Amino acid sequence: MQKIIINGGIKLKGEVKISGAKNAALPIMAASLLAQSECIIHNVPRLMDVATMGKLINYLGAEVKGIEENNTISINTKALVKSDAPYELVKTMRASVLVLGPLIVRCGEAKVSLPGGCAIGARPINLHLMGLEKMGAEIKLEHGYVRLKAKRLKGAKIYLDISTVTGTENLMMAAALAKGVTVIENAACEPEVVDLANFLNKMGAKISGAGTDVITIEGVDSLKGTEYRVMPDRIEAGTYAAASAITEGDVLLKNCMPRHLDAVISKLRETGAEVTEEADSMRVKRKGRLKASDVKTLPYPGFPTDMQAQFMALMSLAEGTSIITETIFENRFTHVSELKRMGADIKIQGNTAVVKGAARLSGAPVMATDLRASASLIIAGIAAEGETEISRIYHLDRGYEMIEEKMSALGAKIKRVAAS
Ligand code: EPZ
Repeated sequence: MQKIIINGGIKLKGEVKISGAKNAALPIMAASLLAQSECIIHNVPRLMDVATMGKLINYLGAEVKGIEENNTISINTKALVKSDAPYELVKTMRASVLVLGPLIVRCGEAKVSLPGGCAIGARPINLHLMGLEKMGAEIKLEHGYVRLKAKRLKGAKIYLDISTVTGTENLMMAAALAKGVTVIENAACEPEVVDLANFLNKMGAKISGAGTDVITIEGVDSLKGTEYRVMPDRIEAGTYAAASAITEGDVLLKNCMPRHLDAVISKLRETGAEVTEEADSMRVKRKGRLKASDVKTLPYPGFPTDMQAQFMALMSLAEGTSIITETIFENRFTHVSELKRMGADIKIQGNTAVVKGAARLSGAPVMATDLRASASLIIAGIAAEGETEISRIYHLDRGYEMIEEKMSALGAKIKRVAAS
């Protein structure tokens, strides 16, 4: 086990290059299973979750080659030998469920371990299954697995009660090779859904409406391998933007897409941060005390739940009281008790946190509980006075490429050590 040690009180300054989006790379890797030839995917972040998805695709029979130095992965799925996703892999990464759609259209069957819960919530997949059933899949739940069978899925009209991101992605992938037209209503509008749709269309799919809440997919008979570059990670970008704002820093984020971060940028500006945007970069600086600002997490284009913990760290140092409401996941406040150990004044009332800004945070030993909670502790630690020690940092490695190197290059005093 390892831990991260941070000596805080630093103002971050300089440039940081944003990596490819984890939540676009994962569905795109799963979608490569739909072709019987090679896919070359560029700008793939080197993360634990990407490695887990690579292991899963390899287990299914695909040949996965990661070209380390330039973040390019080649995936050749000419011969799949399995159509199941085992519990050992799914339990470490919920996004494994993304192979469900591709497997059932490629192999006519799929057996995927039910994901089980995680720190932030129950994470059910009932809507994924409802949509596949509407498309003609026969579904059985047995011994913690879901088993699906279908000769060939047929197009259907699917209304999603909740605009689930991976649910939309699974159904889009399945519909790409179904017979007939599928319409997904109340679909997720996240940029990662659009990135997946662009990849599938490059493979020969016929998808329109991605990025809106109605996506139409005209099924085709086959898809071919293609070459694609994954979009920048908007949550990594938001995290570094928050890190600059919380430390009264001045940071230029390169290789990002500010237009994917409208809600986050407008909230940062509300707190008094200065944000200047270019097409593929943004500069975030802040002088003087942050002002309190209320936030409610919502599906895209609303304020992203994946930025809630980072924003709460920011508001812990703001002047005034902020109300932060989490509407997407039922248990996404696990970072609150850790931030309180650093001197934050936060009270939870149901799915709302009342954050009373403190004049300063003080470094303390804290524990990471999920991916984005880890990020909030890192930025709090860099802003706090004294030393912060973060344990269970395997959560962090799932979603942030080279975070210590990137933060150190901005002036942070941060290092990874073996946990005693
Ligand atoms: C995706 O998760 C992201 N993961 C999450 O990012 C992100 O927080 C989430 O979307 C919301 O934006 C990936 O893209 C790999 P949902 P997903 O299905 O698809 C409920 C990170 O930190 N729901 O949109 O699993 C669900 O319980 C991760 O990078 C059902 O009830 O989220 C939740 O309350 C964390 N039934 C809500 O919908 C279903 O069948 C939204 O979940 C599916 C979802």
